Amino acid sequence: MTQNVGIVGWGKFLPPNVVSNFDLVSMGIDTSDEWIVERTGIKSRRIAPADMSTSDMAFEAAKIALERSGKATSEIDLVIVATTSPDYIGFPSTASILQNRLGLRTVGAFDLSAACSGFGYALATGTQFVQNRTCRNVLVVGADSLSKLVNWSDRGSCILFGDGAGAVVLSATQEPGVIASDLHADGSEGSILMIKGGGTRKPLSDQVVADKEHLIFMEGRSVFKVAVNTVVNSLLETLGKIGKVPDDIDQLVLHQANSRIIQYVGEKLGLPDSKVFSNIATYGNTSAASIPIAIDEAVECGRIRPGDLVATIGFGAGFTWATNIIRWGV
Ligand code: UT7
Repeated sequence: MTQNVGIVGWGKFLPPNVVSNFDLVSMGIDTSDEWIVERTGIKSRRIAPADMSTSDMAFEAAKIALERSGKATSEIDLVIVATTSPDYIGFPSTASILQNRLGLRTVGAFDLSAACSGFGYALATGTQFVQNRTCRNVLVVGADSLSKLVNWSDRGSCILFGDGAGAVVLSATQEPGVIASDLHADGSEGSILMIKGGGTRKPLSDQVVADKEHLIFMEGRSVFKVAVNTVVNSLLETLGKIGKVPDDIDQLVLHQANSRIIQYVGEKLGLPDSKVFSNIATYGNTSAASIPIAIDEAVECGRIRPGDLVATIGFGAGFTWATNIIRWGV
């Protein structure tokens, strides 16, 4: 028999170094605060120092989530880290590094790669393990340091990204918590947001580095279009499966990629601003970390309260998108 699953602990970590749009201009990037704010809504982002890796940020966020959950480390049965900027390319996984640093037993630990949709995929995956009683508690982390993979000479993409981590603990709950999930990918749109070199298709070489193909390439406009065309439908479909409509949503937590996307989706769903969470102005796009960071802040500032119906939607490279509908129970 399956059981209900809810989020019983949450936490976030942002590196202390604040980089404003003005700082980017001072760094020599051909942009302006006015352009970035108007086109993206971003005013600043956090950038991890050179010696801070993705697992370092994941560790800080996970510690807080574990503490809030009240669960002992011995009660965690699985660790999933959603990231596309792992400590090491290939192995060991960032999840294994995190498991060791947290002092967990030899429980399963794996990275999940779905770019900015990663947390949504990981939340849905972790939920299955608790729901079918394979695990008692699952630690799910979204963490990325895209500042280390950004092409700082491409003003069309480098202004968007920031670093950070967010974590949740999933456990069996009396009432349903994560009540519906909807995962999608459209591989035919893979080329609009990718890292072209450094993998097995085009191994790292002097030429790859000279051409900056080991860094993020993005066709911004195409990503924008695919995003707005997919997320609204996914949300409506997922709500429909559980007999809900947009009006039932108390808080929409969309991946923080661009304030214009957030506004468009909110308007399409007919939601007032008070039901559409946004912190993109302060953190930019933190990729897989954006939704758990936003959940943490929304709870802390009272925008998500016990009993609320929370809709989360991530979207990003792949192209991938992932919706989770959660009844907030804590
Ligand atoms: O997690 C998913 C990740 N990515 C996204 O969600 C990205 C989605 N896309 C976007 O957010 C937007 O497409 C961007 C913010 C990236 C770009 O905004 P846009 O309105 O689509 O601009 P654009 O790329 O069409 O460029 C318009 C103009 C161009 O100049 P010309 O050709 O019209 O003279 C660009 O060169 O803006 C110029 N431009 C800039 N100007 C100042 C592009 N980037 C910048 C910049 N500062 N940073």
